[in-house]
Amino acid sequence: MPENNTPASHVLDRVLVLEMVRVTEAAAIAASNLIGRGDEKAADHAAVEAMRKAFDGLYIDGTVVIGEGERDEAPMLFIGEKVGGAPGKGPKIDIALDPLEGTTITAKAGPNSLAVLAAAEEGGLLNAPDVYMDKIAVGPGYPDGIIDLNKTPTQNVEAVAAAKGVKPSDINVCVLDRPRHEALIAELRSLGCGVVLIGDGDVAGVIAVTDEDTTIDLYMGSGGAPEGVLAAAALRCVGGQFNGRLLFRNDDERARAHKWGITDLDKVYKLEDLAKGDCIFAATGVTSGSLLDGVKRRKGGVMTTESVVMRASSGTVRWIKGEHRI
Ligand code: FBP
Repeated sequence: MPENNTPASHVLDRVLVLEMVRVTEAAAIAASNLIGRGDEKAADHAAVEAMRKAFDGLYIDGTVVIGEGERDEAPMLFIGEKVGGAPGKGPKIDIALDPLEGTTITAKAGPNSLAVLAAAEEGGLLNAPDVYMDKIAVGPGYPDGIIDLNKTPTQNVEAVAAAKGVKPSDINVCVLDRPRHEALIAELRSLGCGVVLIGDGDVAGVIAVTDEDTTIDLYMGSGGAPEGVLAAAALRCVGGQFNGRLLFRNDDERARAHKWGITDLDKVYKLEDLAKGDCIFAATGVTSGSLLDGVKRRKGGVMTTESVVMRASSGTVRWIKGEHRI
């Protein structure tokens, strides 16, 4: 078994990367029993409980850096909670997690809900406060700096279109369907862009830019900052570019940022600022979507899952189909 003095550069080597999938699978299967049942809280609770338990099977000394909230808000998987079966002995791993990304989607049996986590060496993931983040993302293969949150949506679309060799009106942009995005959507439509509106689930929305089959070129708009870190970890593994800026609605949210050591409140975060060094991203589909198939209950007590696990240092992406006899 690994020793506590594992060299930092090998910390994630010592973790069975594939074992991370067991954790997201457990959360997805538990949440799947609540798909379409109209109860967001019950679905989230089932996923949290299952994920918390599944971590016990991993030989890690894990710390939740992005989780279900602060200690006084969440009974399990709160920020700072120690997880893993080898506290004080296993490799020290920081974990960002969302046992059920898309609680409303799950309750309504909509597309693209996921059980998701990212893991990195200690200090590798931004301790993002639970505030909104303005985001822009593009897939791999574009010159560095092609997207810039300090530029207008029009300028970003024009830059990506020129680099792709198409007209701005050929560009498809994924945006969360929210009243706060009215002006953004109007600007994109005035350029003739295809606007792919999603009801929830911007981790899958951001990752969609990395897969040409989705036909989505860009992701734009604001969503949760924790989800921004999770999506950034995935992009670190498969390529692509991301800019994120924290958005604060009041002093309480600014105080949260200060509490996590964030002093420059206007900073534009790039991938390496959000997830640095080696990192792992793992997700299992709860409901089917652009990234993964959802959990399906088959005859004879068999449940099937689809998961993906990626690693930044190697760039390896593994798609895993599971059959679970429950
Ligand atoms: P939950 O799973 O916590 O419901 O989050 C779903 C989600 O759509 C995220 O993907 C996204 O980042 C965030 O909510 C957007 O927040 P809001 O619904 O307040 O616009």
